[in-house]
Amino acid sequence: MGLWLRRVFRAAAFLLLLAFWAGAANLTGALIVDNPAAAQVEGKPPGSTLGSTSDSDLWRTLRRGFQGKVSFADKQKGVAIQSEGDNWRAVRNGPLSVYGGWLLLATIVILAVFFAVRGRIRVDAGLSGRTIERFNTLERFTHWLTASSFIVLALTGLNVLYGKYVLMPIIGQNAFAALTYWGKLAHNYIAFAFMIGIAMMLVLWVRDNLPSREDVTWVAQGGGMFVKGVHPPARKFNFGQKVIFWIVILGGISITYTGLSLMFFFDLKPFSGTFALLNLLGFDLPTQLTALQESQLTQLWHAVLALIMIVVIIAHIYIGTLGMEGAFDAMYTGQVDENWAHEHHSLWVAEVRLEPQSPAQQRGGGE
Ligand code: HEM
Repeated sequence: MGLWLRRVFRAAAFLLLLAFWAGAANLTGALIVDNPAAAQVEGKPPGSTLGSTSDSDLWRTLRRGFQGKVSFADKQKGVAIQSEGDNWRAVRNGPLSVYGGWLLLATIVILAVFFAVRGRIRVDAGLSGRTIERFNTLERFTHWLTASSFIVLALTGLNVLYGKYVLMPIIGQNAFAALTYWGKLAHNYIAFAFMIGIAMMLVLWVRDNLPSREDVTWVAQGGGMFVKGVHPPARKFNFGQKVIFWIVILGGISITYTGLSLMFFFDLKPFSGTFALLNLLGFDLPTQLTALQESQLTQLWHAVLALIMIVVIIAHIYIGTLGMEGAFDAMYTGQVDENWAHEHHSLWVAEVRLEPQSPAQQRGGGE
């Protein structure tokens, strides 16, 4: 094969190679030889790899919680950044923790001032020495099952919210980590004792906690709490106790449901359902919430409800111990002094003793 011919073939092969190379370089968007790092023009990426999206556009889209397509079953994994998470953290560590802390502090200060001004509410007629059974064994068991589990839940929950600021500086990081770990376990499992407790309370006491006429007199006379010698008539539970009962039951049901939904992450959707119900009343709330959005709203509501219930129970514990003479016996031995019972639950005493009640008593008035 003549020299010329070989030279033609070589040149053709070289040109072919060059064309192939230029074609490949073009595909990759960079002429390797000419320009190793293509400058961005106006933030636009070199070539057309990302189409018209600039890095900052891409970042902004991702930052807003854009949900990309993923082949995983859990489509949530298509969300690179869940920006509501920031809002959740800002609310939890901001207003929720701050106002919750002030609320707890204010409750204790108000009770301390009340105790200082009003003192312990005494049995005005003095203790008679005779007793009457107020709560039987089953009622007291139910109360202390609910009470003890609630107190563990409250303390371990408060630790999750405030432990880092209040406890860790005192006991150190390792001890705090261990305490929080076991506290979390206790929180998850003792919750079931609390659920059983409120269910039993509901069954045992719902009949005695329905609204009744004498509640109006009780409220009008401030429950006899503020002025010595004032004793509005009441049945087994007075209006104040009925409020505590329904906060414990209704708050207990809601805090249980939200707690379970935080434990069984993807299974329960408390807020989509609640918002759908509220929308029937004319609200316009989102009902297609992602599992993450659900859990963030649920966690916030769980914490808000817990803080409200803890405040109410602090007041309840005050009136059930220090605040009122003779009250604690009701839940300790189950026996209360007759004079105590007459001054605080006169209609209940009459019912228990099957004593005839005057028309005034029937109407919810005084003796
Ligand atoms: C150390 C803590 C507690 C003490 C000393 C205490 C004390 C008492 C006492 C003395 C009574 C009877 C009042 C009466 O004779 O009318 C009572 C009733 C009651 N307790 Fe407690 N309690 C405590 C914690 C709790 C907790 C944590 C809950 C619920 C989560 C709770 C829920 C109730 C309810 C619903 C009643 C009946 C309605 C009422 O009296 O308010 N208690 N408690």
